Amino acid sequence: MLFHLQGKAQSPASYYNGVAQIIGKKCGICHYKEGYAPFSLSTYEEVKRHSKEMGLVIASGSMPPWKANAHFRDFADNRSLDSAEKQALLDWLKNGMPLGKKSDLVQPKKFTELPKPDVLLKMPRPYSLAASNKNTYICYKIPFELDSAHAISGLQFFPGLKTLVHHASYQIFEVAESIDLKLGPDYYVYNEDSINRVDDMRDFTFFKMIGKQGENPREIYHGGWLPGTGLIKFPEKVGFNLPKRGVLLIRSLHYSPSSVEANDQSALGLFYSSVPILREVGFAAFQPKNPSPGYGWTIPADTIYRAHLNVKFNNDVSLLFINPHMHLIGKTFRAYAVSAKGDTIKLVDIPDWDFNWQDFYRFKNMVKIPAGSVLHATATYDNTSKNPFNPNQPPKAMAFETGMDESNEMMRLVILFLPYQKGDEEISLE
Ligand code: HEC
Repeated sequence: MLFHLQGKAQSPASYYNGVAQIIGKKCGICHYKEGYAPFSLSTYEEVKRHSKEMGLVIASGSMPPWKANAHFRDFADNRSLDSAEKQALLDWLKNGMPLGKKSDLVQPKKFTELPKPDVLLKMPRPYSLAASNKNTYICYKIPFELDSAHAISGLQFFPGLKTLVHHASYQIFEVAESIDLKLGPDYYVYNEDSINRVDDMRDFTFFKMIGKQGENPREIYHGGWLPGTGLIKFPEKVGFNLPKRGVLLIRSLHYSPSSVEANDQSALGLFYSSVPILREVGFAAFQPKNPSPGYGWTIPADTIYRAHLNVKFNNDVSLLFINPHMHLIGKTFRAYAVSAKGDTIKLVDIPDWDFNWQDFYRFKNMVKIPAGSVLHATATYDNTSKNPFNPNQPPKAMAFETGMDESNEMMRLVILFLPYQKGDEEISLE
């Protein structure tokens, strides 16, 4: 295959002419020294060292991980290789990985040199994860007092133990002066019982950690991190206003089973906006009220279960990000809205769900959902023994939507949105 770059005459791809650029763009966001992936692909030597596995994962399409069907709805940060890039990499591997001339190199965007956050809200003390070989869920409180309030235009969650932090869900609260930020413990470990008692959790977080009865702290922002979630950047004048004094509550920090003891110190980085934030981002999470008529809240063993949710929008909104969520036996997830006029607005389609890759998908442009529209989402679950991700072999009946534990299932759709303003559809999120 001939690779063509920068208007130069066509020449076979070499590392410096073509390959490094593709890898920098499509692999570099995770495969760098401090990155999320297990090894770096930043230099020729590193790429060469992993060339065999690279050939396999590129051919199979498992890397770069990208689960959203671009024919249904494509997103701003689509990481997948287009067919020319894929072919160029495979041909280069087959041709013995020629290095080429250094002068051909157009520096790929270096993700290690992303702008540093203006403030890092970090767990003040490391959490010591035991070598228990079990899933661990904690809720961790990070109080902060800044020089002043700040307008925030972007944020990024940095898992401390990159290979063990499985997901995080967090909220930022403004906390009244009358409340001692150090009140209560730093963190709370869920056990198998408490994890499903959402009310206990709410009481705990609100009243014991950061509030008093009748004096709930004000929620400023709600976000999440899942493998592959990078920088969340809002368009100009969009974001939120970080109060001078408050708490970052990592409401649920899930660690995968570990056979070694390890310390985690995860953090949330925030980027200050140089212009005032005029539009504050909203967060909404939808779950089904009646997931599967006929089956209800249990997924029987040896069945394919289908769940559905719908939500009516009473106001015009503009969508920025969308995040479908299921657990291990999830198979497909599709969401779309139907306007009062009958127009269909395609939102997201995941034809082959993978629990390990749950993005906050960023739309290319803001997507308007007109008032009166109904959002529909359908998810399917494969609770048969044919599903290699089924945690139970032979399959067992699983509860649906009772909690965060992967021994049961769940369906959730999260959106980050704004009240609609004329012209939003023209605003690019790329
Ligand atoms: C969004 C983050 C991300 C991106 C982008 C990404 N990777 Fe990975 N990669 C990972 C993680 C995490 C793992 C380890 C877990 C796994 O295998 O799923 C991994 C594993 C691998 C492996 C080892 C797989 C194995 O079976 O041993 C290879 C090879 C690889 N990646 C190559 C690539 C290449 C080539 C690209 C770009 C074309 C790429 N990756 C893009 C995150 C990423």
